[in-house]
Amino acid sequence: MSVGIDEISFYTSNYYLDLRTLAEAQQTDPDKYYVGIGQEKMGMAAPDEDIVTMAANAAMPLLAEGAGERVTTLLFATETGIDQSKAAGVYVHRLLGLSSNCRVVELKQACYSATAALQMACALVARKPDSKVLVVASDVARYDLNTPGEATQGCGAVALMISAKPRLVEIDPEVGNYTEDVMDFWRPNYRATALVDGKYSTKIYLKSLKKAWENFRTVSALTFNDFGHFCYHLPFGRMAQKAHQYLAKLNKSALSPEQQEYQIEDTLLYNRAIGNSYTASMYIGLASLLENGKRSLAGERIGFFSYGSGCVAEFFSGKVVEGYERWLHRDRHRQLLDARQALSYDEYLQLYRYPDPRDGEHHDLPAVTTGRFRLAAISHHKREYVVC
Ligand code: HMG
Repeated sequence: MSVGIDEISFYTSNYYLDLRTLAEAQQTDPDKYYVGIGQEKMGMAAPDEDIVTMAANAAMPLLAEGAGERVTTLLFATETGIDQSKAAGVYVHRLLGLSSNCRVVELKQACYSATAALQMACALVARKPDSKVLVVASDVARYDLNTPGEATQGCGAVALMISAKPRLVEIDPEVGNYTEDVMDFWRPNYRATALVDGKYSTKIYLKSLKKAWENFRTVSALTFNDFGHFCYHLPFGRMAQKAHQYLAKLNKSALSPEQQEYQIEDTLLYNRAIGNSYTASMYIGLASLLENGKRSLAGERIGFFSYGSGCVAEFFSGKVVEGYERWLHRDRHRQLLDARQALSYDEYLQLYRYPDPRDGEHHDLPAVTTGRFRLAAISHHKREYVVC
């Protein structure tokens, strides 16, 4: 029985900073960002947006016409946790009106946890094929101002409906994993921004790719040449390009640089405009590939490389289903990206520095988001979410 991704939808804030604007303020050559790291824009969450509102906005379109009734589990992947105890998915569960018999749990391992959620979801569905599992991954990527990481911020959420006989991508059961205790990127509980050893993180990313791929090859009969396209974790586009060149070289691929680029270029389009969305980024890359493919991908095998700093990595594979085009949310996603508003550098700083109230008083938040769900207030240390 096939199990996999039945539908995919993503959401990002209505606001973004163009990296040209950042470069101008920093008196840096914009090509360092546009060419050197391969990014153009980064999403900035409004004061009344967070991982919960973004996740609910991403998932809502998958629940039309009673589609939520068979959802028995909601798995929420994030590294931008809003509570040490309560799973952010419990708020999403209410906002989406899911059944009170649906279980909810939050998963964490940097950017990797959405893939852990996907694999767990596939296992649950394989056990009970008439059920569906909703996987949501939602993050706000934040680094300190005036650090090399600043240009690689972003925000976004993705929702994947996992079912038997999926309409988009069948996920193969074989996976290759690699885990190593390293400090390339981390965020202690008391910090709002991540700490990162940037150059080291890119080296560990590539080492993990090699190790996860080698492990994958011991359990799967698929070789490099069996894949039509590859989706990589996307901290920034150039990272995926370097990773793919590296994997092609490891496999002594006869493909030209242009053919190698073709295998990943469509996965990079949305991320180039959104920035790093941590757990969500590889799956927004998958949506980008499926929705922007120059020809039908039906029947093609896709290779996935999921990486989470710290670190855990996984290489796995999937097959695109015949007729997948009918179930995409292409127009809505493009409208979402096209309708966004550019921020000036000062507006970006205002959003970046917007206070995060921790005093237990009542704080109303300004109605700024254009999304369906918003964080209306933080009162007595409780977050109050509303449907607009
Ligand atoms: P940096 O060190 O300031 O950048 O920041 P750089 O000087 O290395 O320049 C970057 C590239 O731009 C270089 O190309 C330059 O040559 C080029 P490369 O040598 O890499 O091919 N360049 C230019 N190109 C054209 N015109 C110009 C120009 N100037 C320079 N004028 C760094 C780079 C990655 C360190 C920084 O962005 C960073 O710290 N980012 C955050 C960490 C990160 O994203 N790491 C990625 C791997 S770890 C990961 O993916 C996990 C993560 O998502 C978190 C999680 O798992 O939760 C981060």
